Amino acid sequence: MAAYLADVLNLFFRWFHVIAGVAWIGASFYFVWLDLSLREPPEWKKKKGIKGDLWSIHGGGFYEVAKYQLGPEEMPKTLHWFKWEAYTTWLTGFALLSVIYYWGAEQYLIDSQKISLSQIQAIGLSLACLLGGMVVYEALVRSPLRYQPKVFGAVLFVLLAFSAWGFGELFSDRAAYLHVGALIGTIMAGNVMLGIMPAQRELVRAVTAGEQPNPLHAEFAKARSTHNNYLTLPLIFIMLSNHYPMTYGHEHAWLVLAVIGGLMAFVRHYFNLKHQDNHQPWILVAGFIGMIAVVFWLTPKPVAVDASAPVIPDEQGMMLVATHCQSCHTAEPTQAGFVAPPAGLVMETKAQVAAQKARMIPALQTNYMPLGNMTGMSEGERETLIQWLGQMP
Ligand code: HEC
Repeated sequence: MAAYLADVLNLFFRWFHVIAGVAWIGASFYFVWLDLSLREPPEWKKKKGIKGDLWSIHGGGFYEVAKYQLGPEEMPKTLHWFKWEAYTTWLTGFALLSVIYYWGAEQYLIDSQKISLSQIQAIGLSLACLLGGMVVYEALVRSPLRYQPKVFGAVLFVLLAFSAWGFGELFSDRAAYLHVGALIGTIMAGNVMLGIMPAQRELVRAVTAGEQPNPLHAEFAKARSTHNNYLTLPLIFIMLSNHYPMTYGHEHAWLVLAVIGGLMAFVRHYFNLKHQDNHQPWILVAGFIGMIAVVFWLTPKPVAVDASAPVIPDEQGMMLVATHCQSCHTAEPTQAGFVAPPAGLVMETKAQVAAQKARMIPALQTNYMPLGNMTGMSEGERETLIQWLGQMP
């Protein structure tokens, strides 16, 4: 029952998280596009304090958008804020993290071959790292470094790459990637709550009081919102990465993530330049070539079947599968916490194993399976099983 409940919560929060994330990231894309696409307004609009003019057509209608230099003379009756997209995305993401990685810490968070932690220790460490990472970002963004966007970007990149390495030392490979994502998400939601919202409240207060708003608040909010924009593509990659052990299971997983994340932020830069009519297609080409290079880099090594080595008897291979895989990968798993064969993979007969060996080998090579090495598989056993699978016709 508990396992079924965990699955249901997992599905519910994931679904909710994706919807909220679409709304948040969609708004981020839209507003960055909007801001960069503003053009010089006609004189009469300038006189009203409007600094940018934009026309668009969508869903069968014309839209006219105007951005004020600082604020309108009077507060409009209805003013739309965009904060719940961000908060809901973070809250549902945190709920999902808790259901999968905290509740199921033994299977998904802890890798006893790296550091053997108790569930409480692992959760404490995870929370401390997420909070600590956000504090470091807040310190940086409040420092004069923020006036140098390129240097700031480089420092943030190095720190995030370092966090990917650090999480990889502490947690399971898959949890390591996810934690970089959770940290980025926390930084982004923090940008909204701790930076953008207070600045906007101040703007609204000044306009309502009939005072001249301080442009520094608006600039600071804009810088944070731009940081968020560059973080979106790497973040979405991390959200999807947990389906692809070839990424987080790579022996230099943190470097893989740093390279892919860097390339994605760079590609985002192309679009941000393009919105300002600055076309630099070479950025897209470089991003594409970079990704092709990554594809080659991640290619798994083929299993070298040593022809001179003694053939591993099928009984021995099936014995390893029975000991290390079948507690979960059977029609009715005996492992507590599992109600159905994970990933739909049943490994009860030799024929089933043979049919799935193409997926089993990389899962074993990347140490992804057995999950959290809960069955305590030794390196020798791992090699023997890979060898046996490799020699199967
Ligand atoms: C403790 C339970 C458990 C054990 C033991 C276990 N697995 Fe898994 N396995 C899972 C879960 C859970 C998933 C789905 C993970 C996911 O959603 O990414 C999975 C998924 C897989 C996949 C699919 C991965 C993919 O996405 O391509 C393969 C292949 C696999 N397991 C092979 C094995 C092999 C081989 C063994 C034995 C050496 C093994 N598993 C032992 C729980 C287990």
